[in-house]
Amino acid sequence: MAILQLENGTQLTDLIEITAELAPLNIKLSRWPVGENPETRALLAKDALSDAEKEQVLQDLDSYFEELQRTDGYQSRDLIVLHPEIPNLDTLLSKFKPCHTHADDEVRYIIAGEGVFGFVRPDGSQVELTVQPEEYINVPAGTEHWFYLTEGRRIKAVRYFIGKEGWTPEYTGTEIRLRPLAAVS
Ligand SMILES: [Fe+2]
Repeated sequence: MAILQLENGTQLTDLIEITAELAPLNIKLSRWPVGENPETRALLAKDALSDAEKEQVLQDLDSYFEELQRTDGYQSRDLIVLHPEIPNLDTLLSKFKPCHTHADDEVRYIIAGEGVFGFVRPDGSQVELTVQPEEYINVPAGTEHWFYLTEGRRIKAVRYFIGKEGWTPEYTGTEIRLRPLAAVS
């Protein structure tokens, strides 16, 4: 389950309470089951996946993509797989660590591991949301946010795109005040 950390140190784990805190940002957060397919489950437990294995996982979960295609015009999806053995992991992550926005929504479905999204709310307050397996998140275009991995440094997430051009980070220079002790990279 997702965890939301507020600046005063409060941690929320109740999805309804978290949704209420994120409401000013119009962030969508939903629980999407991965299902019971044993082959998918086995692949999700591995660190590295071949392109064929990634495609196998994506196809097993494509009913969600098809729904996004129908309702919101999404056009492509891929699977991002990060783990400690990736040689340039820190370089990859450094792009998303400072506060930034995107011209398109950032839409992710976490299927293994976890990561932390930080957000600047309209009143200037900052929160950090730890997203975990079976959680779908839509961060609207223009939302000031940042992202890093937790101590395990592992995540598998499906990324859904309307177009890939709008997904480059635009850095805002906002200082990040929230720094949980467990944060790595
Ligand atoms: Fe981002």
